[in-house]
Amino acid sequence: MPDAAVPTALYAGPTDRVERWRAALVAAAEAQAVPLRLFMDPSEIAPEEVDYLLFGAWTQPFDLSPYTRLKAVLSLWAGVEKIIGRCDYPAGVPLARMVEPGLTQGMTDYVVAHVMRAHMDLDMCRTRHQERRWDEIFPPLSAMRRVGIIGLGALGLDAARALRALRFQVSAWSRSPKQEPGVESFAGWGEFDAFLEQAEILVVLAPLTPETRGLLNAKRLAKLPSGAHIINAARGPLLVEADLLAALDAHLGSATLDVFDQEPLPKDHPYWAHPKVLVTPHVASVTRAETASPELIAQIARVERGQALRHVVDFERGY
Ligand code: NDP
Ligand code: OXD
Repeated sequence: MPDAAVPTALYAGPTDRVERWRAALVAAAEAQAVPLRLFMDPSEIAPEEVDYLLFGAWTQPFDLSPYTRLKAVLSLWAGVEKIIGRCDYPAGVPLARMVEPGLTQGMTDYVVAHVMRAHMDLDMCRTRHQERRWDEIFPPLSAMRRVGIIGLGALGLDAARALRALRFQVSAWSRSPKQEPGVESFAGWGEFDAFLEQAEILVVLAPLTPETRGLLNAKRLAKLPSGAHIINAARGPLLVEADLLAALDAHLGSATLDVFDQEPLPKDHPYWAHPKVLVTPHVASVTRAETASPELIAQIARVERGQALRHVVDFERGY
């Protein structure tokens, strides 16, 4: 007989990784001595008996309305725009976004790799090689290069620290001012233009919200220095695609794009053929079962002890 006092959790995430998630969640619950009845498929438990929903399955139909006793929804994704936009989201149930070391490290790896690629002009190295050209061109030192990061949250902050360790001049633009050693803080709309004007490499790591949709439009892109590089690893609609294409043709150096208005990116999209664009297929980072499970179990343990959830989404702000 199941012990009704033991909380229940339902995994509703990617179906191709269920066994990996099961093993990691069970191991984490054992390691933290958290009693939990874990279900890996919605058919295994009645919706009204689920306490915690580990959720990231919006590519499959999933009706949230019968989940009437939820204590929390724990998103398997950092970006929660598709969850908070749902009309079946149960009122009053807290939603936590995903913050986990594997997701963070993966993103920092991606950002550092593509900042370095832009900084060292590695695309041009390949072209010179193909043309058998012996051009002795030396890139500036990283200490002379200004990298601006939009969003200094869980992901932006870790990337900023890694770039600082590589001696880049790092600035960041966020909603609220920050005091991070070595990172120049710009905050709010009043400081956005000044931030853009100095960002030779611009990294986008802010959530998609009503305020950030269309953030980088023609007017804002025109503020970036000539030859600037853009790396968008956040969400496609933060950038206006047609405006970016025009700005690339006008004055920008390159764009590395991981996220798009429509995913997968349609085969006939102009980005694929644009010489200044590198497309990666929304793989900048990913939530990893092994590193995320201890965080999810710790969140459940916190609620069971009567403590506050971490990384709670503010539905008004949109992140
Ligand atoms: P956080 O919520 O931790 O950080 C968000 C940052 O953006 C904060 O610094 C916040 O400012 C800032 N921000 C939000 N709205 C505004 C605004 N209107 N003006 C200025 N700054 C703003 O998010 P994460 O770092 O965890 O993740 C960022 C995004 O990265 C996710 O929302 C997701 O879309 C994307 N992502 C993409 C992945 C991929 O593979 N491509 C993988 C994982 C995430 P403040 O600090 O003042 O609140
Ligand atoms: C996320 C993502 O938001 O992978 O976690 O894009």
